[in-house]
Amino acid sequence: MPPVIATVVRGVELRDRLDSERSRGHRIGFVPTMGSLHRGHAELIRTAAAHTDVVVVSVFVNPLQFGAGEDLDAYPRDPAGDRDVAEAAGAAVMFAPTEVEMYPHGREAVLTTVAVPRLAAVMEGASRPTHFAGVCTVVAKLWNLVGPCRAYFGEKDFQQLAILRRMAADLSFPVDVVGCPTVREPDGLALSSRNAYLSAEERAVAPVLHRALSLGAEAILAGTSDAGTVRRLMAETIDAAPLGRLDYVEVAHGDTLQPLTVATEDARLFGAVRFGRARLIDNVGVTPSSTDTDPGPRRP
Ligand code: PAF
Repeated sequence: MPPVIATVVRGVELRDRLDSERSRGHRIGFVPTMGSLHRGHAELIRTAAAHTDVVVVSVFVNPLQFGAGEDLDAYPRDPAGDRDVAEAAGAAVMFAPTEVEMYPHGREAVLTTVAVPRLAAVMEGASRPTHFAGVCTVVAKLWNLVGPCRAYFGEKDFQQLAILRRMAADLSFPVDVVGCPTVREPDGLALSSRNAYLSAEERAVAPVLHRALSLGAEAILAGTSDAGTVRRLMAETIDAAPLGRLDYVEVAHGDTLQPLTVATEDARLFGAVRFGRARLIDNVGVTPSSTDTDPGPRRP
């Protein structure tokens, strides 16, 4: 029988439990989530379990990273399912704090926040101006509570991953930020909790986002170096499909996230499209080697 996952809601209890693990020499791996766990999350947890001794999964729908009019209230929640997925994938502890636990003075009264301006100004940050400060602030708090030596994030949110890597470096968080490849449905659609918003008709056309990005990557590999041409190709592909409303497509540098004028094999292609209630994002590297994998176990 695998160990039964422990659910912890208080930060002090979490810290006590993990201090005792650390005192026994155990390395803590951490997978922060907003719940509604799917196979993509399970893959992050399995990777963490393969490279660390105790895996903590947090489930917290963080109000700070939702803008006015976004889907905070509608965001799918499934605590029992989350527990099953996390346990089956090898997590030992689920941290499921209340909002009061995370923001004791109230979400409107948080004074200390973390911003990573340049990286957060483009793409998702341009469309959702307060989003990344909310993400960085909650992840900084969670890292302080959990104290992981490795934290795992999906490349589906590549901009988030790049920003959190930079935050860890700039603020000297003693954590390795590990990016894991996007998990996809057979037709290319990236797994996301927000796919639950798609109607059957929208679900059928949603893979056009990944198809457009893949066409962009193929065009660069075939010798198209003008990034504007690649952007146009991707936008036209999405516009030609029914039901989707393009938010943006971008050809950007994989580290700086800044838009490129000349597309190279180091570029990364990003896009966001609305299908009804769902706003889906995705990204691909131009070559398979530009996809991150876990570099393997490293002693702290
Ligand atoms: O990627 C997510 O699910 C969230 O942005 C995160 C990292 C858990 C912070 O709330």
